Amino acid sequence: MPYKLNVNGRPATVDAPADMPLLWVLRDVLNLRGTKYGCGIGFCGACTVHIGGRAVRSCQTPIATAADAKITTIEGLSADGTHPVQLAWQEFDVPQCGYCQAGQMMSAAALLAKTPKPSDQDIDAAMNGNICRCGTYLRIRQAIHKAASLAAAGPARAAEAVASGDGSGR
Ligand code: FES
Ligand code: FES
Repeated sequence: MPYKLNVNGRPATVDAPADMPLLWVLRDVLNLRGTKYGCGIGFCGACTVHIGGRAVRSCQTPIATAADAKITTIEGLSADGTHPVQLAWQEFDVPQCGYCQAGQMMSAAALLAKTPKPSDQDIDAAMNGNICRCGTYLRIRQAIHKAASLAAAGPARAAEAVASGDGSGR
């Protein structure tokens, strides 16, 4: 049956079975390949996207439950790569192989939207379900703190700070 979706601010109608995971819809139907398949059973976080601003596992989200909701994928986190999380990830060279990182960034962005100045404990609790087999956890935590300070400084100053190589968060 056809489902009306709103993905990254764009409407899309997808004809799919009600139980098709949103992950397959994003990757195979809408060709948004930034969201990754890791475990397929809700354990790794590689497939994390936002629905209504909340971080969810798209491998565990049937398309029927995502219809009409506002869905954001890594491709839609910002128009030009200047979301504070993206800037901070870049500054700290967070990714190693990179496979888990879209999910990590989407979880981090959802955390900061809810908790603008997270403690280490907040970060550990929010990021707990995002697995990185390359072990980039320390840089992820540093980058989240940096993203929080970039967001607090405002978008223009954040972009400026990164462009000028101001590594004050290191
Ligand atoms: S692929 Fe969805 S949680 Fe692992
Ligand atoms: S960067 Fe390789 S799995 Fe996380």
